[in-house]
Amino acid sequence: MGIHNTRLVGKAVMVVGAGSGIGAATVERLCAEGARVCVADINFAAAEAVAARMTEAGYEAFAVAVDIVEEASVNAAFAAAVARLGRLDGVHVNAADLRTIFADSDALSVELGVFDRTITVNLRGHLLCTRAALPHLLAAGGGALVYTSSGACDGGEPERPSYAMSKSGLNALMRHVASRWGKDMITANAVAPGFVMTPELIAGGQVPADWIDYSIAKTRSTRLGKAEDIAGVVAMLLSEDGRWINGQVFHINGGALLT
Ligand SMILES: NC(=O)c1ccc[n+]([C@@H]2O[C@H](COP(=O)([O-])OP(=O)(O)OC[C@H]3O[C@@H](n4cnc5c(N)ncnc54)[C@H](O)[C@@H]3O)[C@@H](O)[C@H]2O)c1
Repeated sequence: MGIHNTRLVGKAVMVVGAGSGIGAATVERLCAEGARVCVADINFAAAEAVAARMTEAGYEAFAVAVDIVEEASVNAAFAAAVARLGRLDGVHVNAADLRTIFADSDALSVELGVFDRTITVNLRGHLLCTRAALPHLLAAGGGALVYTSSGACDGGEPERPSYAMSKSGLNALMRHVASRWGKDMITANAVAPGFVMTPELIAGGQVPADWIDYSIAKTRSTRLGKAEDIAGVVAMLLSEDGRWINGQVFHINGGALLT
């Protein structure tokens, strides 16, 4: 993979929502930097495919199934991860149910089912993962939590209110974790991507061309994001290089949004 950094050697890490897109790219980056990785996703077949790609490349990775909105499922997935890894030094909570994002119209018209699903996955789900992760990170003497937020929470967009609200709430959860457990050697941070054309979005061909043009036009570094752009920052936050970074939101967007 062309990465020569070994800063994650010895780290046991779990990526939740790792079957595709940014999460899958993050697994690849973490493995390439030396981590042993649990690949968790509601789409178990996709998680297995990512883990298989990593083991074929000579890395240590394995898949577990998880639905982050179900407490028993989350607890079982983290237990399975720790049983296999022996410890947990870092967790990247990245999952979101993006199937309804184009139906997340505006505050007057958005269907409450779309709102409820978005909030359930992005807030309840991330709270459950936080609860499951923290005891293991504390048992390891400290560790790093990284959440995937979004530039949408600070962009003031005319659409996607449910999504933006959920990601703002996620930032609040992250700041709470940093404040409550920072003294116990826990770091919590968020990566907030701009528009990232993941391999799945490219293959799906469903992103409107005018949205792509609009996104590039407002981006100072004039290209769209790649999943790898986000993965590199997550790797840094999970490494010793990130040990004194706590409670921060990292906007990674080529300058599309200046905060
Ligand atoms: N792609 C972008 O432009 C962009 C921009 C900003 C933020 N993000 C955020 O980045 C993260 C990853 O997005 P992506 O574009 O790679 O999307 P993606 O759909 O490729 O990845 C999300 C993964 O989460 C999994 N997932 C969904 N619901 C789940 C659940 N209940 N339990 C467990 N896993 C579940 C999916 O199966 C999928 O593998 C999301 O949090 C998204 O909001 C993406």
